[in-house]
Amino acid sequence: MQTLTVALGERSYPIYIGSNLLSQVGLYTPHIHGKQVCVVTNETIAPIYLEQLKNCLSASQMSCVVLPDGESYKNLSTLNDIFTTLLAEKHNRTTTLIALGGGVVGDMTGFAAACYQRGVNFIQIPTTLLSMVDSSVGGKTGVNHAMGKNMIGAFYQPQAVVADISLLKTLPAREVSAGLAEVIKYGLISDADFFDWLEQNIELLMSGDETALTYAVLRSCQNKADVVAQDEREGGIRAILNLGHTFGHAIETAQGYGNWLHGEAVAAGMVMAADLSMRCGDISEGDLQRIITLLQRAKLPTKAPADMTPEQFVDLMGVDKKVLDGRLRLVLLKSIGHAIVTSDIDTKLLMETFAACR
Ligand code: NAD
Ligand code: GLY
Repeated sequence: MQTLTVALGERSYPIYIGSNLLSQVGLYTPHIHGKQVCVVTNETIAPIYLEQLKNCLSASQMSCVVLPDGESYKNLSTLNDIFTTLLAEKHNRTTTLIALGGGVVGDMTGFAAACYQRGVNFIQIPTTLLSMVDSSVGGKTGVNHAMGKNMIGAFYQPQAVVADISLLKTLPAREVSAGLAEVIKYGLISDADFFDWLEQNIELLMSGDETALTYAVLRSCQNKADVVAQDEREGGIRAILNLGHTFGHAIETAQGYGNWLHGEAVAAGMVMAADLSMRCGDISEGDLQRIITLLQRAKLPTKAPADMTPEQFVDLMGVDKKVLDGRLRLVLLKSIGHAIVTSDIDTKLLMETFAACR
């Protein structure tokens, strides 16, 4: 097992990465401070992993909330179900919430922990590749609103993250690909050597090789932890983690939550960001093609839905959190391995990108 630290002063926490970690009680006990625990998971993951986790936890009162599965349930109504269980089963301020699931469960459990009695502890056990490399690390929690993705939420850090690579064995191939989009993102924004490594190992990762997956999760989390430690609340540099996300969130909102997976939308969005970077003269056509080829090898979409108009993009991107003072801000590439955040966007070039990428 490898341990990384997200260095945030008194809110610092470990990320444990390795195989067969789910039942290792010693990983949880230092981070559970009271006698109550509430595991939040969903109806897909519960039958596979919930008993294994429950059997190893030693809390004197344990509750479980099994949510319906899907991005379309990541909303205030589902969140309320978590609060109802916590209140009905008399959880107090020393309780610990444990998120056992992908980004949907993790984001909702984290937000529930941030709100319940003004804040209780929580632990992330990510079960998808995407949640291991991205959503479980860094403390962004929240739910969707019909008018915008992740628009209701809080920054709230977990006590620990337990990334058990063995759990990926049961993850559907499409979800592995979606996670690889965020892995490739780290290569693009800050780690050119890792991008090269991914070009050499993408098929190994897709075949489920645990050694390769462990390395990719470790390197991705290292990249993310470095950025989060510099800028926890996204006042500056953290925005680079959103490469492709402004375009991607527009795709997710337009298509209806859950139809395009988050990672798929981010993949198409990263191509749009790279295409615009090329039009701005920052990356070459060859680099754009390298990015498209790697995403295609990871079985990810590299174009936006054909029925999305430029007007729809502009409209939906206008409500994105990254819009400041009415000006669109985008993450673009200076090169593979170097991203910048800019509001200096040439509208004509942006329109060309919309036209070229559908
Ligand atoms: P998800 O949570 O919907 O999980 C994907 C699917 O895989 C679900 O059907 C789930 O039940 C199933 N599943 C999960 N683990 C499994 C396993 N081990 N075996 C079999 N099936 C399993 O999707 P996701 O991609 O993990 O997360 C996407 C969400 O994460 C989005 O809501 C996105 O907004 C959010 N996100 C948040 C952050 C952040 O910083 N907080 C970052 C990136 C993404
Ligand atoms: N997924 C973007 C972030 O955590 O900031």
